[in-house]
Amino acid sequence: MEDLGAQEAAVLEIIKENPFAGQQEIATMLGLARSTVAAHIVQLMQKGYILGRGYVMPASSRAVCIGGAVLDRKYRARTPLVFETSNPVDGLRSLGGVARNVAENLALLGTTTSFVSIVGDDETGRAILKHMRDRGIDVSQVITSGERPTAEYAAILDPQGELVLGIADMSIFDLFAPSYLDRIWPHLAAATWVFADCNLPAETLSALIAKRRGARFKLAIDAVSTPKAARLPKDLTGIDLLFMNIDEANSILQRKGHETIDDARDAAVALQLAGAREAVVTMGSRGIAVAGTEGVRTFPAVHAKPVDITGAGDAMIAGTLHRILSGEDTYGAARTGALLGTLTTESAASVHTELSERFLQANMHRLAG
Ligand SMILES: Nc1ncnc2c1ncn2[C@@H]1O[C@H](COP(=O)(O)OP(=O)(O)OP(=O)(O)O)[C@@H](O)[C@H]1O
Ligand SMILES: [Mg+2]
Repeated sequence: MEDLGAQEAAVLEIIKENPFAGQQEIATMLGLARSTVAAHIVQLMQKGYILGRGYVMPASSRAVCIGGAVLDRKYRARTPLVFETSNPVDGLRSLGGVARNVAENLALLGTTTSFVSIVGDDETGRAILKHMRDRGIDVSQVITSGERPTAEYAAILDPQGELVLGIADMSIFDLFAPSYLDRIWPHLAAATWVFADCNLPAETLSALIAKRRGARFKLAIDAVSTPKAARLPKDLTGIDLLFMNIDEANSILQRKGHETIDDARDAAVALQLAGAREAVVTMGSRGIAVAGTEGVRTFPAVHAKPVDITGAGDAMIAGTLHRILSGEDTYGAARTGALLGTLTTESAASVHTELSERFLQANMHRLAG
């Protein structure tokens, strides 16, 4: 890039980050006149750094994941915990957040993926973005906030590995206002599927559901947790595919569970009656229920030797969306998704480290067993 002047290089950087950037937007960012930016763009085209001006066509199938990006810390006590003093532990850090995990799984499976979230102006935020960029995920629309730190979850486990205390610093997600959806609209409008998690504030989820009505993309949502599921509107109309586990479903439907797969079936149907076009209710090792456009079906879980169940639900969602994007119907897609969830329970990491389309294909035989 020796043939580029400093201003040309700066303009090119901005266009690389956001091919939708307008000339005025670039001019404002760099403190230049719009006409100067226009001249630099002509130069960049002549020098072969930009192929064409105007309309960038989106990839033919593209997923956008919006929601949580979290640093998870796990501290396992070496000796029985004593309160009000210092305890020796073995610490482990990993990246989490439902939308972040779904985006990473999707990208590893080969789906063109963007991730939209809010991180703090800190080391953790930068590490998360770098990790995702390295996997080919578009993180150009992530907001960096100077107001709050990147979300963190810390779990303190006893020497047997049982959770004693979990602490969640997630207040940064409250800053994800509905107005941000307008700012990134071209990005969303070009998506085939948008996936959102309930780390987003209730108003933002409602705004997204409302916007979906006039858009070409389909919308999938995951509940994240029982308290966060309460952020969903009562009327679930506008959600194309809703994911939740049986506890989350029972909680928002205000029904009592019976812990059988028929219970998941009833819950999935109830979510459809509440407005969701399709719903997948998961029940861990017991299986899943899929309420689709051709009725409700249940599938048993593939037998597993779980090592760490963290991220299983997120992998299940990514596997499902990946297969739907490849043209499969929701039932078949969710079955493969559930298999990916099961495979993830057999990995210590929350996103399976060996994941690829090939790895998934190599394990498809387990659905038959
Ligand atoms: N013990 C297990 N054996 C086999 N498969 C499992 C097991 N636990 C989870 N899975 C797989 O992962 C999927 C999601 O698990 P689960 O129903 O526990 O979701 P979740 O509670 O949302 O999990 P998460 O906490 O990861 O969000 C299941 O549908 C299943 O396919
Ligand atoms: Mg879940």
